[in-house]
Amino acid sequence: MDVFEAIKGRRSIRRYKTDDVPEEKINAVLDAARWAPSWKNTQCSRFVVVRDKDTKLKLADTLGGVRGGANPSADAVKNAPVLIVICAKMGRSGYDDDRKIATDKGDYWYMFDTGLAAQNLMLAAHAVGLASVPAGLFDAPKAAEILGVPADVRVVMLLPLGYPDEERAAPPRKGIAEISSLDRYK
Ligand SMILES: Cc1cc2nc3c(=O)[nH]c(=O)nc-3n(C[C@H](O)[C@H](O)[C@H](O)COP(=O)(O)O)c2cc1C
Repeated sequence: MDVFEAIKGRRSIRRYKTDDVPEEKINAVLDAARWAPSWKNTQCSRFVVVRDKDTKLKLADTLGGVRGGANPSADAVKNAPVLIVICAKMGRSGYDDDRKIATDKGDYWYMFDTGLAAQNLMLAAHAVGLASVPAGLFDAPKAAEILGVPADVRVVMLLPLGYPDEERAAPPRKGIAEISSLDRYK
């Protein structure tokens, strides 16, 4: 699949077929994720592949964020055959060689690195016939507890993965002229 076709054809899908996802496809999407660029190639992204039904149900309970509330991906987290939990090992992205914060962004570059890895993963999933939805509105510390994530690792995103069982039209995007300018910020 052409890269532009993958970028434009990928959709956030929240209903999946019950068919299992073979290990080779999981490996293919994780392989794509590990080839994402990262801060000084520090590769802080980590992935937990969840297949256990009970764990998925517990993680679904964290959706809605720290203040609670509905998340349109609640059923996707419960019912997708696979859930990939994207985590970041802290203290790497955004730091100098002498372990000092390097920019005005503090250590938030871990969000950038995991975001790039997540996009690679989602595009690769689309290219091998799978669908996904990135879910960020959940209680990450609670999810960390459920998964036994150590203190120096942060849970960033829940990513249900499976064969699509719905078709969705692309939500509109802003035009190029609206989001870009030449030589000076407009
Ligand atoms: C950082 C981030 C967090 C998101 N969190 C959620 C979420 O918690 N629940 C959900 O249903 N969708 C979530 N989405 C999916 C967006 O709603 C979706 O990407 C957007 O509407 C554009 O649709 P598309 O992905 O089909 O192009 C998230 C997307 C991103 C990039």
